[in-house]
Amino acid sequence: NAVSPSPQVVATAADLRAALGGGPVALVPTMGYLHDGHAALIREARRLVPGGRVAVSIFVNPMQFGPAEDLSRYPRDLERDLRVAAEAGADVIFHPTPETIYPAGFATQVSVSGVSGGLDGAARPGHFTGVATVVLKLLNLVRPEHALFGEKDWQQLAVIRRMVTDLNVPVQIHGVPTVRAESGLALSSRNSYLSAEQQERAVLLSRALRAVQAAYDGGERRTAALEAAGHAVLAQDSEAVPDYLSVVDGDMAVREIVDNSPMNRVLVAARMFGVRLIDNMPLSAQ
Ligand code: PAJ
Repeated sequence: NAVSPSPQVVATAADLRAALGGGPVALVPTMGYLHDGHAALIREARRLVPGGRVAVSIFVNPMQFGPAEDLSRYPRDLERDLRVAAEAGADVIFHPTPETIYPAGFATQVSVSGVSGGLDGAARPGHFTGVATVVLKLLNLVRPEHALFGEKDWQQLAVIRRMVTDLNVPVQIHGVPTVRAESGLALSSRNSYLSAEQQERAVLLSRALRAVQAAYDGGERRTAALEAAGHAVLAQDSEAVPDYLSVVDGDMAVREIVDNSPMNRVLVAARMFGVRLIDNMPLSAQ
């Protein structure tokens, strides 16, 4: 195993610009506590700019957490993150303080309507405004040619694509398929809140989504019937408190689905053992 060179860690806008140089840049925004899902994004970034710089931002963004959410206990391990990022091919780690991103007097919000409205946007008021605001700031700080996001956060990806189109941000957005544990559980930093046994039971979400896929593949096209197939699986474990299980199209709207559109998707959010988990899967052969 070749030892990957340590990435350069920078905390200020000036040091960031100096570290990036003048060549092509690909950015992977994260909140840290990196896992194989983040690593897949970094590897894809490396592939996009073979001779350029891969920048990974690590910033637990206070603006996207609600007052009753897990900001203060969100998991952190910078040393381990640096190893994971280096091994996946990162060159520069941008690890700013909250004061660097939100200095005194900060007063601007990027609010994306429409795609932000339902699902997680309804469950977490202000969340996507916090995400859009910090992502636009990161894009302006790094000025990358490419920025990569996981399909794991499908609605977030839709919000960012909408923002970049609407505001003419000169960047190419890439969605990367969800990385899962062998059990089917989608990898997430928040899985660390669960014990190994609880993570086994959290496989329920992916099983519910697969049940919806199976119904779809069997010819079912009525959204209510598709959603019922998923809810039937969620109901198998009394620990699961569903927030939503919804069939959507490209606009995150719930309506009669357009047959075989590649944007048809089923999304789920549920609380298990006090932890809010999300997952989603496509609803047509991709
Ligand atoms: P975070 O949850 O750390 O995720 C960073 C990126 O990794 C996101 O684009 C997310 O979709 C992707 N990701 C997470 N788990 C994944 C998995 N199992 N497979 C593939 N990709 C995965 O999402 C955020 O941070 C923040 O909202 C952020 C965009 C950084 C803004 O603060």
